[in-house]
Amino acid sequence: MGLTDMRVFVTRKIPGPGMKILEGSGAAVTVCQSREDAGVTREELLAGVRSSDVLVPLLTEPIDREVLAANERLLGVAQMAVGFNNIDVEAATDLGVPVTNTPGVLTETTADCAWALILASARRVPQAHNYMVGGNYKLWGPNLLLGDDVGPGGSGIRKVLGVIGYGRIGQAVAKRAWGFDMDVLAFDPYNRDGVESSEFASWADFDDLLERSDFVTLHNLLTEETHHLIGAAELRKMKPTAHLINAARGPVVDEKALVQALQEGWIGGAGLDVYEDEPAMAPGLAECENAVLLPHVASATSDTRGLMATMAANNAIAHLRRERAPNVVNPEVYETEAYRNRIGTSGSA
Ligand code: DGY
Repeated sequence: MGLTDMRVFVTRKIPGPGMKILEGSGAAVTVCQSREDAGVTREELLAGVRSSDVLVPLLTEPIDREVLAANERLLGVAQMAVGFNNIDVEAATDLGVPVTNTPGVLTETTADCAWALILASARRVPQAHNYMVGGNYKLWGPNLLLGDDVGPGGSGIRKVLGVIGYGRIGQAVAKRAWGFDMDVLAFDPYNRDGVESSEFASWADFDDLLERSDFVTLHNLLTEETHHLIGAAELRKMKPTAHLINAARGPVVDEKALVQALQEGWIGGAGLDVYEDEPAMAPGLAECENAVLLPHVASATSDTRGLMATMAANNAIAHLRRERAPNVVNPEVYETEAYRNRIGTSGSA
């Protein structure tokens, strides 16, 4: 099917390989990038959706029912991210709009970054860097910037990594722990079988994992059930020396409670890539010496972002062609009357 009379609305410019595919498709591509730092406004988003056949959004834009209903000809939403908690998928399915994401290609890169946070938090890398560039290093000292071992260190005592959410990324994080001679515990309410059959982790109950782990790393989806999965009660169950790592979604952690935990020493440290009210941080977090803070960059390598953009663009083209998209998160949509009406056919997709 020719795409020359089709239109794609991209909320902010995606990396080159993805833009190239979209622009090479023949469809008219509009990129809303009036303010790269501020992002697309609600009005721009609604106007863009109204005048397009496919929307390519980012995780920073709330794609709610109003947005999805703004254009009855909208053929799909092709988000450039694996997470899609910013999209009302239920509404999309009701309205007959297929939604796609970009799974798989960012797994290893995100797992690497979770490990960067584990190591940086344990070994106080940002504090050491600041100490150095602040001109404070005058003399080597036996008590200078002491951190925690990640591997067994000289004592030979194996550390425990607790992985919450044992999907692709959680498993890749667990696999890396074997290079550090760690014992890995995993908890995943939706994937117990995955943990039990894993060569890299043993199953633990949630509380057991919190109590036994030296590092707790979060890799679950954000859903209603996982909102504030880690709150004051859970932080109090962790070891006072433990580190909490979050490269999943901010609202999985009650950030105010985390600040209190860091200030009062309920836990040893935290490494965060995501925030509850991103890009804002909870009051006091930036001042916590024992927190390593990154600006949601876990998948940010040139290769991986290029692959994510490629995947999003190919998904967008499948939507434009009214084909079953490879990375659809609501496959049931293809069986709905709403979808058939939308694509203007009476048969199935
Ligand atoms: C995602 O894809 O969901 C990440 O948060 C950004 O790469």
